[in-house]
Amino acid sequence: MIPLVKSTFYKEKETKNKLIQFIKTSDKLSFGSECEKFEKNFAKWQKRKYCIFVNSGSSANLALIQALLNIGKVKQGDLVGFSSVTWSTNVMPLIELGLKAVPVDIEIDSLNVSSKKLAEVLKEYPLKVMFLTNLLGFCDDIDQIRALCKQKKIILIEDNCESLGTTYKKKKLGNFGLASTFSFYVGHHMSTIEGGAICTDDEELATMLKLVRAHGWDRNLDFAKQDEIRKKFHINSNFYSRYTFYDLGYNLRPTEISGFVGNCQIKFLDEIIQKRMDNFLSIAPSIYGNANLYHPVRYDHMSVISNFAIPVICKSKVMRGRLVGRCRGKLEIRPIVGGAMVKQPFFTKYMNSFPKSHSQNARLVHEQGLYFGNNPELTPDDIKLILNIFKRD
Ligand SMILES: Cc1ncc(COP(=O)(O)O)c(C=O)c1O
Repeated sequence: MIPLVKSTFYKEKETKNKLIQFIKTSDKLSFGSECEKFEKNFAKWQKRKYCIFVNSGSSANLALIQALLNIGKVKQGDLVGFSSVTWSTNVMPLIELGLKAVPVDIEIDSLNVSSKKLAEVLKEYPLKVMFLTNLLGFCDDIDQIRALCKQKKIILIEDNCESLGTTYKKKKLGNFGLASTFSFYVGHHMSTIEGGAICTDDEELATMLKLVRAHGWDRNLDFAKQDEIRKKFHINSNFYSRYTFYDLGYNLRPTEISGFVGNCQIKFLDEIIQKRMDNFLSIAPSIYGNANLYHPVRYDHMSVISNFAIPVICKSKVMRGRLVGRCRGKLEIRPIVGGAMVKQPFFTKYMNSFPKSHSQNARLVHEQGLYFGNNPELTPDDIKLILNIFKRD
């Protein structure tokens, strides 16, 4: 059986041995210098000015929305668009924090939102923010989405938890909007066991994200920023300054264990991405080329395709049922990401007022799609088995 996730870390044995040594010799395992080092490493790799490391991709999404509210770029009741196929905790923070979550449908041949789909929604809903998910290592015309958002004064933010490393028009996904979120969960591109991050070039947002990450206090800001905020709020006493809570926050801090592992794994990140891309390119043409059985997915427009799973959208529900049976005991499969959000009970409970037309393709993906893992450790025999499963009706 080929599992969805084959290992906890890339170069598992070597990484675990280093981790054991680190734990044995470390005085501090709560947030500290390894986490800060990882933030620098990751910001450099992603080509962003700031990286704020948190304990999951879900926390990254929550922190980002809270920080946008805290600095006043967004206010309660604003309409926020989201990709109608995404993960639950992309949408949940919007609802939790008093925003209106508006689904924007995806294109069936890219599995992502296009500028056309966004423009359709904008005819009815004046969005303040578009929280775009770059689904499964793919994107549509994200440069045009960015241009449309700029023209309409919509804040574009990216949930890049599934597309770390994908490059479109020479730019990494995650660098098209004001900020982007990442997940380092074990099943994703690069594992810190659990972990996530927010990247941005915006200094005000980065500062607020550090407050939001830890209790709303200023302890992780640099001295100049601490000085600034203390003066603004007239906090002159050292006694109180460490226990002054400036704005709404949480405790979303990662531990030094995640920081240390992140610093080990990021050295392999380009290698991991290359291996997965090689796997993808030796599997995708046969599956997507079989247009009688499957909806083809376009991928030629990206120069690096970085996914941790490969989606298949069948031409009918019956066919997907047959495939589920054929994979049993051989290849672990699952629904595509979180499916169509509008079909999820939490969404219908809290936000049921949007026309169904804005999720038509998402519903198709929900009902006729599945995915299997794209592990860097896939062997030639694994690939042969996968191709064999999908080649027949
Ligand atoms: C698009 C997307 N956003 C956010 C998340 C949440 O990441 P995490 O599992 O690290 O909380 C996921 C998780 O799979 C995801 O696919």
